[in-house]
Amino acid sequence: MWRLLLLLLPLTELPSHAHYTSSDVVYHPLPHFWTGVGFCPAGDINYNGISAALESPSMQLHLRLIGALPIGAITHIRIHWLLELVQFLEYSTEGVPQYDYEKFDRFVDLLQELHMSPVLEFMANPGDVFTANPERNWFLWENFVKSIINHQLARHGATRLSSWRYETWNEPDLLNYNRINFTSASYLEYVQAVRRGLSKAGGRRKSKQLYRALRGPAGLFKSEQRHPLCWELLEVCNQQLAKCPIDILSYHRKGLDGSAQEILNGSLALLTKIYHDYPQLQQLPVANDEADPIAGWDTPRDFQSDVRYAATLIATVMQHWQAKLEGGVLAQLESLSHDNAFLSYHPYEFSQRTLLAHFRMNETNPPHSQFVQKPVYAALGMLAKLGTRAADLEVVNMDSKHSVQVLRSISGNGAAQYMATIFLSPEQAGPQLTAYHHKYTLNMSIANESAFITELLVPHSTDPAHVWQQAGSPAYPNATLREAMRRAQTPRLYETGPIWQYNSELVVNSAHLPLPWLMLLRVCSAAWPKLKRPQQLEIVEVTKSEVFIRWSEQARSTQCLKSYEVWFRERAGSDWLHISQGWHLPYPSFQYAPGENNSVNGFYKVRGVDVFNEHSAFSQIVEYLEL
Ligand SMILES: *[C@@H]1O[C@H](CO)[C@@H](O)[C@H](O)[C@H]1NC(C)=O
Ligand SMILES: *[C@@H]1O[C@H](CO)[C@@H](O)[C@H](O)[C@H]1NC(C)=O
Ligand SMILES: *[C@@H]1O[C@H](CO)[C@@H](O)[C@H](O)[C@H]1NC(C)=O
Ligand SMILES: *[C@@H]1O[C@H](CO)[C@@H](O)[C@H](O)[C@H]1NC(C)=O
Ligand SMILES: *[C@@H]1O[C@H](CO)[C@@H](O)[C@H](O)[C@H]1NC(C)=O
Ligand SMILES: *[C@@H]1O[C@H](CO)[C@@H](O)[C@H](O)[C@H]1NC(C)=O
Ligand SMILES: *[C@@H]1O[C@H](CO)[C@@H](O)[C@H](O)[C@H]1NC(C)=O
Repeated sequence: MWRLLLLLLPLTELPSHAHYTSSDVVYHPLPHFWTGVGFCPAGDINYNGISAALESPSMQLHLRLIGALPIGAITHIRIHWLLELVQFLEYSTEGVPQYDYEKFDRFVDLLQELHMSPVLEFMANPGDVFTANPERNWFLWENFVKSIINHQLARHGATRLSSWRYETWNEPDLLNYNRINFTSASYLEYVQAVRRGLSKAGGRRKSKQLYRALRGPAGLFKSEQRHPLCWELLEVCNQQLAKCPIDILSYHRKGLDGSAQEILNGSLALLTKIYHDYPQLQQLPVANDEADPIAGWDTPRDFQSDVRYAATLIATVMQHWQAKLEGGVLAQLESLSHDNAFLSYHPYEFSQRTLLAHFRMNETNPPHSQFVQKPVYAALGMLAKLGTRAADLEVVNMDSKHSVQVLRSISGNGAAQYMATIFLSPEQAGPQLTAYHHKYTLNMSIANESAFITELLVPHSTDPAHVWQQAGSPAYPNATLREAMRRAQTPRLYETGPIWQYNSELVVNSAHLPLPWLMLLRVCSAAWPKLKRPQQLEIVEVTKSEVFIRWSEQARSTQCLKSYEVWFRERAGSDWLHISQGWHLPYPSFQYAPGENNSVNGFYKVRGVDVFNEHSAFSQIVEYLEL
């Protein structure tokens, strides 16, 4: 039997009597409901504008970085106007529009390669077909939806498509989205037509086909006067749920002041009102598609640059988990999505609501983009390590106003077990330097032979924005500064080692950690599945003499990963060099920039090291040649 002690010593090390221990933990199935992100591409909203935005080299590299989080961290990506990538060709002699899917296919294939599924929002007007034929929209929408799905079924098969999500037009009540002049009547007709299209696609093998759920109305749900389309859809659904075209009620609730509590409060208030007025809808699962701390993605805000945003995102997930467990109006929470996959722009490289800082390097010829991972990106990677069952959220009080939130999770049974626990500090310290000492006891008796690892996100040391600001926030950070930022972009390895004696003790002296911090503790039994070899190693150009290297992970084998190693050799016969030596690389990517006089041309391979210091097999060797 193992016990791992974690001491939280917030201000001084003087012990008091406060002592928190919990051993009889009850675990509940934990769906990873927070794995969606979204954004709106810049540019004109038509085929040319949206293709240019999504096909640009900076966007493609940006997506590759988003796809380079640990497996399962991001499963779905919701991109407004994605279907504008479908090109209208002509009407057939029967008046049926003919579409070309080439750009859409290519984009979907990239997402597939990156292990992300699209959330297809049926919002587009290719060739103005919908506005040119208002009286035929009931048919045109059904046909559009059915054609898209049939086309993708033929390319990818039903199994792959089963992870896709489908949603109605985003925020249809807002004038900047309602570009096809929906009225109440035409909107309801549209939603019904989309529903029919989804149901009829793949029609011939009906018996085998999976039901495709439709999300909607993706509404803001402010007053009924301002947002009549969304409220009227609810009214229709409440009257006769069996004829309701949507299966999952999606809505948008953001915080007001940047806090996680406000996001949750907004959802609770909205759902309470909806269920009061439309009681039938309590039967539908719900999804908050845009569960962000504060509205306005492009408004620069300091907290969005650093660990504070990471902490808020984790708190949002923890609090929604607790609300879901408690069985109130969020009992049927199906998913949360973060609208933070935007491409930031100068001079707000770090401070917009994004996962990555984007530096547009105009001084090179040609210009290129450099990306740095923000702490919120790292936080999504940490959440991916949670297990399949989790306990109630535990709150360890530090004083009357400040507490550490603890979410424990577990996977496996018997000898093969894995535990992952996230600790989230308070945002601020208590007002007085009162002596207190909290002992948090975690029972880690998962096996006789096990090992652990703790990683931290903490201001300054895992804060690339801080590194950049210290250097004077240059628009074009040089190679030295870029490397310094990247060294601060992953969680910091705090401690790791075997657990080989009773009552192993791990002391986190949080008195020395600036607030807010968050910590991920993982414990693996020796019988947990071993690391598998990295797959799909890919080397892509960033600029001259600089490459972005990414690979993919195999599910259920990376929980006990400590770090990756990237190896390089210039030519067959020369020595392999461990080019990521000295880096903590818990996520499956690495940017290699050996300097302008060194070559990136050559051979690459990657392997992982686990908490027992055992190596995985090497990936396949991939050769890269600069053009
Ligand atoms: C720790 O957990 C194990 C397995 O769940 C249990 O058998 C043991 O009694 C617990 N130990 C303590 C000190 O609570
Ligand atoms: C939508 O309505 C506005 C205002 O009534 C009008 O100016 C615009 O031309 C209409 N757009 C389409 C595509 O019909
Ligand atoms: C959220 O709602 C609770 C209960 O209604 C309230 O006590 C709390 O002050 C609200 N939180 C915020 C940040 O408004
Ligand atoms: C763990 O070790 C104890 C004492 O050596 C032994 O009795 C027990 O069977 C072992 N348990 C497992 C699951 O290996
Ligand atoms: C790179 O930029 C940093 C900060 O802007 C500066 O201190 C340093 O001298 C630069 N290094 C080189 C090699 O130019
Ligand atoms: C680089 O050029 C683009 C396009 O002209 C411009 O929007 C951007 O602000 C420039 N970036 C910097 C850092 O000056
Ligand atoms: C690369 O080599 C050139 C020519 O030898 C030299 O001028 C330059 O300073 C070198 N650059 C670096 C970063 O070492």
